[in-house]
Amino acid sequence: MNNDNIADKILELKKKKNAVILAHFYQVPEIQDIADFVGDSLGLAQNAAKTNAEIIVFAGVHFMAETAKILNPGKKVLLPDLEAGCSLADSCPAPDFKRFKDKYPDHKVITYINCSAEVKALSDVICTSSNALKIVESFPKEQKLIFAPDKNLGNYVNNMTGRNMVLWDGSCHVHNQLNVSKVIELKLQNPDAKVIAHPECQGPILAMADYIGSTTALIEFIRKDPGMKYIVATETGILHQMHKDCPEKEFIIVPANETCACNDCPYMKLNTMEKLLSCMEKETPEIKLTDEIIDMAKIPILKMLDISKQAKLI
Ligand code: 13P
Ligand code: SF4
Repeated sequence: MNNDNIADKILELKKKKNAVILAHFYQVPEIQDIADFVGDSLGLAQNAAKTNAEIIVFAGVHFMAETAKILNPGKKVLLPDLEAGCSLADSCPAPDFKRFKDKYPDHKVITYINCSAEVKALSDVICTSSNALKIVESFPKEQKLIFAPDKNLGNYVNNMTGRNMVLWDGSCHVHNQLNVSKVIELKLQNPDAKVIAHPECQGPILAMADYIGSTTALIEFIRKDPGMKYIVATETGILHQMHKDCPEKEFIIVPANETCACNDCPYMKLNTMEKLLSCMEKETPEIKLTDEIIDMAKIPILKMLDISKQAKLI
């Protein structure tokens, strides 16, 4: 079956089953194009929180689909491939994190949404890359904080806010391996290009960036910015939306290392149109969580959504 036929079948099933398809910007272009909503982690969580659909089909990774399930315990949440995990979430196993947290009893815990439901259940508030600064600033300056699991985002927020949060030593293997010497080389070859970076990148790349933001923020930046050329330090999937929004502009993706020109998240790219169709036909694989974890993890997620509503986000 070709992609057009698969797309027709997906759209038919979507209507018949009252399903909604939520997709992240790192998904393959054809999945982004068929989704009801494409966004960053915050936008996806906000959409999951307000959907009336009976089935949520999550074209993203496991922690994102879990967040949708926590917000919609009565609904069926499908993930086209259950193996679509996240190296950052995997870098923070809940039992280890519990031991770490117990060492700092007077600290509040802020966790980046890229973590398991069990880690969320151990947290005071969740954040994403688009609201991390606001969430941290929602605590009084004197409040001691733990930030997990992304040390790069944690360091960035510490630098921006003057805080001294205790950081969990985790990272995303895709962003963490982006090569700073490649960014310098690309900048020397393209002095007119602006460097834009996701805050999961390492500090030396962030220090070179003209703009730092979540996937949505990076896309909004290139839409509004008068520049014509950008060196993009994040996962390749974002280029689809950038090319669609600004076909006249040039985007140069930062390669992962000296030898490899690609910079795909292998987990995000496990989802395919075929798997999307199959999961909608069979209504599996489905995200399952215990009621206890749902009840505990929901509190810090709702807190994040509430703070995000009140505050103007960066
Ligand atoms: P955002 O889309 O929230 O910026 O997150 C990027 C990411 O790493 C998702 O896995
Ligand atoms: Fe996880 Fe990194 Fe992939 Fe995002 S890009 S899903 S943080 S491994």
